Formats: sequence, C-alpha cells, structure tokens
Amino acid sequence: MSQQRMPALQLFIDELRAIWAVDPDMGSRMEKAKPHLARLVECKELQERSVDWPSTEGRKNLLLYVDEEFEFAINAVVRVPGRKGSVHDHAHAWVLYGILCGKESLERWERTDDGSREDYCELRMTSVSTGSPGKVDLVPPFDIHAEQGGAERSVAIILRSTRLGNITQRQFDPVAHTITPGPGPTQIPFELTV
Ligand SMILES: [Fe+2]
Repeated sequence: MSQQRMPALQLFIDELRAIWAVDPDMGSRMEKAKPHLARLVECKELQERSVDWPSTEGRKNLLLYVDEEFEFAINAVVRVPGRKGSVHDHAHAWVLYGILCGKESLERWERTDDGSREDYCELRMTSVSTGSPGKVDLVPPFDIHAEQGGAERSVAIILRSTRLGNITQRQFDPVAHTITPGPGPTQIPFELTV
C-alpha cells in the first residue's frame, strides 16, 4: 500500500482537480489555480521540508505528482546560489511558478526579429521581477523567459498543464542569437508523504 501524501500537497491536488473538472479552458484553469499555489508556497511545513531536497542542477525537476486523468504535473526545482538560468520557453505547456524558499529573478523576454526563423532570434528583456516566498508567476505557452537564482539556495513549486521532459522546448541565446530545440528537464520522481 502506498503511503499517505503530505496533506498540504493532497489539498492542492484536490483543489486543482475540482477546477479542471468544471473548466475546460487551460488559461482560465491556470488563473484559478494561482491563489491555490500561492497558498501552498506559503505553507511553513512545506518550506521546512524543502530544506534538504536535492539540487536539480543539470536541468532536472523533482516530479511530485502527475494527474492521470487531467494530465497536469506538479514539479519542484532546487537552485544553487547564483544559478544562471537559460532563456527558454515551455512549448505549448502552461506553467505556474511559485517560489517556496529564497529569492529568484523572473525575467521576461520577447523576440524583436520577425520570428520567421527557427535557428535565429533577436531578443530583448521586457521585464524582470523578484520572486520571493508566496509569489506566483503565470507563464503562458511559448512565452520566452528565464528564472535566475538568487544569492542563496532557492526552491520553487511548479504547476504545469502537462508533464515536461519528452516535449521539445526551445532555448534562446540572446548574445549568440541562436535557438536550440531540445528535450525538457529530466523528471526525477519525488514523493512527499506524511
Ligand atoms: Fe521556465
């Protein structure tokens, strides 16, 4: 028999399943999920439990849950201090990104070329905001962005409309002007039980 899931995570899953069951629109689902993720990343017990979660350096995600019926996935990322994040998109997936511990800089970028080439881009940063515990950022499909680590270790909880890993995403180099397609982060199963 599998062990009981941590109650705060189980409550979040139940809340998401209730939203997904009645609303077919993915953007609307993610907007409705936002306050629930905000509450989850303010959970002191979860913040305390995350202190010894392993680093996800090397393009990894901890995989906390995948919903078999609705396909959404819940991940965690653990960044080392000063971690430089790549500029990337998540293909067609919607993403809600909530900071659990530490601080990160959340950058938004846009293409200033006409977007017609698959191997060349010109980019400019349109905004950067500081994410700290409780802050949740919604990233729509194909939005170009980066998450940069802060001075200390940081942990984020991520809700994705679908599990990444096997979906081709793009990485953008604003200096070399290159676009590199590739698989998403390696998914490391990570159970949060009582
Ligand atoms: Fe991202």
